[in-house]
Formats: sequence, structure tokens, C-alpha cells
Amino acid sequence: MRLAIFASGDGSNFQALADACSSGDLPAHIALCVSNNSRARALERARSLNIPTAVLSPTEFADEDDYSEQLLDELYAKEVDFVALAGYLKKIPRRVVHAYRGRMVNIHPALLPAFGGEGLYGIRVHRAVLNYGARWTGATVHLVDDEYDTGPIVLQMPAPVYPDDTPERLAERVLEIEHRIYPQALRLFAQRRVQVEDRRVHILTAATAAA
Ligand code: GRF
Repeated sequence: MRLAIFASGDGSNFQALADACSSGDLPAHIALCVSNNSRARALERARSLNIPTAVLSPTEFADEDDYSEQLLDELYAKEVDFVALAGYLKKIPRRVVHAYRGRMVNIHPALLPAFGGEGLYGIRVHRAVLNYGARWTGATVHLVDDEYDTGPIVLQMPAPVYPDDTPERLAERVLEIEHRIYPQALRLFAQRRVQVEDRRVHILTAATAAA
């Protein structure tokens, strides 16, 4: 699997995926790191691992078509066959989503369909969970479709919410879970163990996938 990782910020999920590739836990090669933000720490992490990077911000382009074309050019040039969004704050244009349908995933720091959708990202998600009074939150890896956070769910893992939590503390607890389930989810794709039927994602056993 030749992977592109899109990240706008710190890139701790990028790092978790890169670590899983080097340890052999994730049988994939990171062929490209894409960011909309030239100052993203994720880009530094990529450069230090000699992973090619591309900085493409939608505002630099005349229109969405132009932006899509540039993104696709970068992805095709590196022969990317799978895309992982890891803290990427820009909406992926429709054309790119369609080109990678079933081959593009995102990680969200809550248990979807709760606390997702437009405007719910980063610390805002954890603030919303606390304000709502939810007892559990967690992380979700899902396929990307045309809307925010609505694609079929691949993996989820819960985390408790404690009475004295702050959004920051909760973010930290959830991030640890993200770092565990994102490599696991991608490994399932790399092993061709994921089958999607409408909204439902079936995880095949390794033996069934190999047969
Ligand atoms: C993570 O919580 C991810 O779920 C969300 O943005 C955050 C990115 O963290 N989409 P990092 O940049 O991977 O450290």
C-alpha cells in the first residue's frame, strides 16, 4: 500500500503511522505527506524521515477544479493508492474523494455519529463532549465521503470521560487511542480485510482475506 497522509497540524497521528510502518506493524509505505499549512509540524516530521511533502492550500488556486487537479497530480505522481487524513482541516474536494472512493479514511476524536460534522474538530470536539455531559467518548476511523464525518465506520474505540476532565486532558486521552486504532485500521486495508456494504463495514479474518 502506497499511502499519502494529509495533516494540518502537529502530526502526532502521522508519526504513529510512520512508526507503525517502520516497525512492520503496518505493511505500507508512506509515499507523500500533504499539508495546507507550510508551518505544520507534520511536514517537519515527514522531512526528517525523508518522506516527500507537498504544501497545497485551497486558497492558492483559482477554483476547486484547479485545486483538485493539483492534488490528484501530486497523488498520482507518487503512485498513491490510499489516503489517510490525520488532523487535516480542509475539506477534500469532491473529485478527489471520488477518485479515492473506498481508499480514503479519516480519524475523528469522538464516537461518531456523536460530536461530528462541520465545525467540530480539534479541541472543539472535546469541549462539546464535556458540555454535553457525555460519560464516554473515543475515536473513530471512517471512510471519507462527500460530507463531514459521515462515511462508513471502520473502527472505534471508547475512552471514559471523568468529572474533573478539561478539554485538553480529554484530548490527550483520546489521542492515545487514535495512535492505536489508526495504524490498526490501515493495516486492515493493507491486508485487504475490509469490505464495505452500503454503510456497513465488514472486517474479514486474515484467512478469509487470503483465500
Ligand atoms: C486528532 O485529534 C485528529 O483526530 C483530529 O485532529 C487531531 C490531529 O492531531 N482530526 P495530530 O495532528 O495528529 O497530532
